[in-house]
Amino acid sequence: MRLARRLDKLPPYLFVEINKKITGKKARGEDVISFAIGDPDMPTPKPIIGELCKAAHDPANHRYPETAGLPELCHAVAQWYHRRFGVTLDANKEVLPLIGSKEGIGHISFCFIDPGEIALVPDPGYPVYSVSTLLAGGKPYFLPLVEENDFLPDLESIPEKIAEKAKLLWLNYPNNPTGAVADMAFFQKAVHFARKHNLAICHDAPYTEVAFDGYQPPSLMQIPEAKEIGVEFHSLSKTYNMTGWRIGMAVGNAQMIDALFRFKTNLDSGIPQAIQKAAIKALTGSQDSIVEQNTIYQRRRDKLVKALNDIGLRARLPKASFYIWARIPHGYTSVEFTTELLDRANVAVTPGTGYGTAGEGYIRLSLTLPDDRLDEGISRLMRWHRAKQQ
Ligand SMILES: Cc1ncc(COP(=O)(O)O)c(C=O)c1O
Repeated sequence: MRLARRLDKLPPYLFVEINKKITGKKARGEDVISFAIGDPDMPTPKPIIGELCKAAHDPANHRYPETAGLPELCHAVAQWYHRRFGVTLDANKEVLPLIGSKEGIGHISFCFIDPGEIALVPDPGYPVYSVSTLLAGGKPYFLPLVEENDFLPDLESIPEKIAEKAKLLWLNYPNNPTGAVADMAFFQKAVHFARKHNLAICHDAPYTEVAFDGYQPPSLMQIPEAKEIGVEFHSLSKTYNMTGWRIGMAVGNAQMIDALFRFKTNLDSGIPQAIQKAAIKALTGSQDSIVEQNTIYQRRRDKLVKALNDIGLRARLPKASFYIWARIPHGYTSVEFTTELLDRANVAVTPGTGYGTAGEGYIRLSLTLPDDRLDEGISRLMRWHRAKQQ
C-alpha cells in the first residue's frame, strides 16, 4: 500500500509523549487535572437540547440535509450578526452553515491555495490554518504574535515580495491561544493591507461571545469594506457549549462563500437537520446563558491568573476567550515545563509550542473545567511551587 505523499506534510504531533504519560497515569488510577482542552465543561442550554430532541422525532429531519443549510438557519445567522454586531448580511449569498467552523477553516485553503502558494498565518495559532495550507500544497508564512505587540501581527513587517505573492491572510481574535483581542483600528488596518496586496482575509472568530468585564469583541465584518475581501468563521461551539454537535458558519464575501460551498458540496452532505434546528433555537432564543457562563469563566479567570502570578508564571488577564497564556520560568522549554507539571503535580497544561515556534516560553491553560477541579488544580500548582522553593 502506498499512501499519498500529502500525508507526509502533516507536522509531527508534539504531544505524543505527554499524551502517553497522561494515558499511563490515568490507567494507574492517578487523578490528572487537565487545563489542556478548550472544550466547555458546561452543558448545552436546555431549550436548545429541547429543540434538538423535538426535531429528532420529526421524520423530515431524518433525510439528507442540503449542504447549503436550511434557509431558516441562514436567516437566523444573518439576524444574529445584525443584532450582535450591527452587520447586515444577505442570508442567501453571504452565509454558509458549516459542520463546525473547523470544517470550513480546513476546506477554504483548498479554494485559495494552489501548490507553492502562500498563506499568511499567525504563530502561535490554531494549527488548522497552517496544516490546511500545507495539505493544499501551499506554504504558510508565519506572522509572529509577540507580547510587546499585544499578540497582534505586525503587518508592516511582512516583506513586500511575500505580501504580493500571498493569497490569504489568517486572523483570529479573540485569540487562541494567547487570549488577545483586536480592536476596530487593527481590523481596519488589516482590511487596508489586504486590499492593497489583493489578498483575502479569513477571520476566525469563535470566541467573540466569551468576554469579560463588559467587553464586547468586534467582528471583522463591522469594517464596511471587509465584505469585499473577507469572510469570518464563527461557531456555536463555544457560545452555546455545542462543541459536540458540530455546527458553525462562514459569513461575508459572496464569492468566497460560493467557492467554499462549491468545494464542500462535493465532499460533505451538510449538517444533520435536527442540529440545524437546535442552532436556530440557540441563535434566536434567549441569550441569557451567555452572560451566566461568562460570569463563571470570569471568576475562574481571576482566580487562576492570580494563582499563576503568585507562583511566578507571568500571565495577563485576558479580556476574552477562555484561555490563559502564561510565561514559564527561565530554564525550561514549554514541553519540559509541561512535563514537569504533569510529573510533579498531576496537572496537564498545553505547551505553547503546540501552536507554533513563537509559542516557546509559554503554556496555555483553559478555564473549561468545573470550579472544584480548577480549585484543586490551583492547590496542586501551589504545592508544586512550595516544594520547588525548598
Ligand atoms: C481558534 C479556533 N478556531 C476554530 C475552532 C473550531 O471550532 P469548531 O469547529 O468547534 O467550530 C477552535 C476550537 O477550539 C478554535 O480554538
